[in-house]
Amino acid sequence: MTESLNGTTPGGRPRIHAHVTGWGRYVPSQVLSNKDLERMVDTNDEWIVSRTGIRERRVAAAHETTASMGAVAGLRAIHAAGIDPDEIDLILLATLTPDYWMPSTAALVKEAIGNTRAAAMDVSAACSGFVYGFATAKAWIEAGLAKHVLVIGAELLTRFLDYTDRSTCILFGDGAGAAVLSASTEPGGALGVELTTEPQGAYMIWLPAGGAKSPPSAETIARGEHYIRMEGKETYRFATKTMATTALESVRKSGLKPQDISLYIPHQANVRIIEAVAKGLGLSMDQIYTNVNRYGNTSAASVPIAMAEAVNEGRIKVGDRITVVAFGAGFTSGAVTIEWTADPERGRIADEAIRPEDVHVRLPVDWDSVDPIPPALAELMNRPGSVDVPLDDVVPGEPERASHPVAR
Ligand code: ACO
Repeated sequence: MTESLNGTTPGGRPRIHAHVTGWGRYVPSQVLSNKDLERMVDTNDEWIVSRTGIRERRVAAAHETTASMGAVAGLRAIHAAGIDPDEIDLILLATLTPDYWMPSTAALVKEAIGNTRAAAMDVSAACSGFVYGFATAKAWIEAGLAKHVLVIGAELLTRFLDYTDRSTCILFGDGAGAAVLSASTEPGGALGVELTTEPQGAYMIWLPAGGAKSPPSAETIARGEHYIRMEGKETYRFATKTMATTALESVRKSGLKPQDISLYIPHQANVRIIEAVAKGLGLSMDQIYTNVNRYGNTSAASVPIAMAEAVNEGRIKVGDRITVVAFGAGFTSGAVTIEWTADPERGRIADEAIRPEDVHVRLPVDWDSVDPIPPALAELMNRPGSVDVPLDDVVPGEPERASHPVAR
């Protein structure tokens, strides 16, 4: 949409802006610590903390799925926005761990949140997926195609990890975050967007089997090709470079300077990558939000979880300009600069109002015949009293550990 100087389109209609009106997040209660991993694979807490900054990550319970976590985060965002779920016109769910190849996980979430009207689809851009979805939501709203869009990043990565590969299994965790974008003629909201894809990195982070090129078979499973693989060093090099340049380009497209941004919210992959980006941009670490120590890399969920926590912790106020920036498999990267216009208090109220045990994703009839927990995690998940959640990090009303399924 072309804008004239007085904020109207050439046709004389006021320009529509996409504001963040709601945000929310959900993380499972089961904690997988570095000490737990020491018992599963040849690693140690000191190596993991010094190389990644990660101390623990969350693991979804047997009854949880990408859709169920996404629905809780989505409903919290809708509650914070102060609208009814049926007012959402479009649901975009970013994930690399969908519940099924089809239907989309977004379709399952649509039913679970009680929406009857929205178009719903998944976004596939790996860890950059939430930012890609956010940019798409902005475009729909500015084009007048939607009034309210729900964007979710949700991942259940612990079911796609090889717990004999110490270079990947220590990095990832489960969770979901969400935002509602709403149309307004008031200035502010989502500003400059920068998205890039560099396919020469296509096989640096990938999941080899299960798709059309290599359908699942006994052989692909025997070779462990249904697990995430990664070239860590190449990915590290790409991430440090692209996060800085992508963030800067988004700020520039917003007509702002880097010093105008009060908080940068990067994809939470590795604290060393975040520190390198901060150094490259000449920022101090208190200008950058991090929670990778508590959740590890939650891929598409990491930016919306971090954004929701930053708002709820008082790190973002009305009038602040923030930049969210991510990189991921593809290689993709994306950044959006946002002028914050919503009352931060609304997110804290939503966390308390939406209880995970009240949110249900309809299950297929054969659900109880499948045990989704990877064998390497089963003993940990069954350990009595193993849930050790710091009191300051409890989402009110998080579910009990699953009592079923399933007999192995
Ligand atoms: N515990 C102990 N030792 C380990 C572990 C472990 N968990 N993993 C690797 N090592 C060993 C290696 O075997 C190697 O040993 P050697 O020197 O005897 O050969 C040594 O530690 C160094 O290994 P490197 O791979 O060189 O370690 P590096 O400093 O590069 O750190 C890491 C590895 C943490 C994976 C880093 O490369 C990284 O963070 N890369 C980026 C990953 C990332 O951000 N991925 C995002 C994915 S985004 C998406 O879309 C899914």
